[in-house]
Amino acid sequence: MPRSKLTMPDQESTVQDPSNIPAEQSSAVEDSILGAEAAARAVGLFKQYGQGDTAVTALDHVDVEFARHQFTAIMGPSGSGKSTLMHCMAGLDASTSGSAFIGDTDLSQLKDKEMTSLRRDRLGFIFQSFNLVPTLTAAENITLPSDIAGQKVDQDWFEQITNRLGLSNRLSHRPAELSGGQQQRVACARALVSRPEIIFGDEPTGNLDSNSSAEVLAILRTAVDEDDQTVVIVTHDARAASYADRIIFLADGRIVKELHSPAIDEILATMAGIEN
Ligand SMILES: Nc1ncnc2c1ncn2[C@@H]1O[C@H](COP(=O)(O)OP(=O)(O)OP(=O)(O)O)[C@@H](O)[C@H]1O
Ligand SMILES: [Mg+2]
Repeated sequence: MPRSKLTMPDQESTVQDPSNIPAEQSSAVEDSILGAEAAARAVGLFKQYGQGDTAVTALDHVDVEFARHQFTAIMGPSGSGKSTLMHCMAGLDASTSGSAFIGDTDLSQLKDKEMTSLRRDRLGFIFQSFNLVPTLTAAENITLPSDIAGQKVDQDWFEQITNRLGLSNRLSHRPAELSGGQQQRVACARALVSRPEIIFGDEPTGNLDSNSSAEVLAILRTAVDEDDQTVVIVTHDARAASYADRIIFLADGRIVKELHSPAIDEILATMAGIEN
């Protein structure tokens, strides 16, 4: 059988031409060429709020894939649909039509209980508004999802994260006794502590000073580079976005531009172009 050679740009290995091999094997080869199955994916995702004259189209048939072991940033003007996209993809909100997948799992096919388990076991979510439980301490908030799931918290990892996020001496305080930035760092620690497959962060550094922000971004970067996790964040900050491997830009509920490993100047120029 004739074999053609495909040389990958980043590796010198050769693989079989997919057209010469059976279907199942072919898809495995394509996966290895394309960087394997996506960690999360949206297909024709459409979300409308309200009805009739007051209807707002927040997502206008979005198709997007978030590759495994990649750090993606989502940018775009206020109201462009970033939070809605993230909520629909993380199973926190239902789309009007279209599908959202985590790995191979179609979220629209899950029963409530299955959705709860998937969110708990496979996803970490850092909310734009933190969503901390006011009656629990910072430490209890951080371990709450693991506690509910009956999972043991890795104590070393807990200490490492809370230490790096500058929370060690605030752990026994309740959210109302913490600054906005400290609450946000608690929300980050909560999403990170169980080492989920994918971490979604909606402006996870929106309330942080530059040191705390750099620490959160470094932890997210390490999650991708060393712990094989997948990270997707929404941000308005070009510096934060520059930690990402890929940036997608939303405007009026559509993806209008994409950049790969961009420099800050390029991000700022793209944002300026979209906002005008
Ligand atoms: N619950 C809701 N009911 C009605 N409209 C909504 C609702 N949530 C969001 N929207 C509208 O949907 C659109 C997209 O909102 P979304 O929160 O996704 O924007 P965003 O890009 O995250 O903005 P920001 O940068 O300000 O957080 C906006 O026009 C918003 O007003
Ligand atoms: Mg938002």
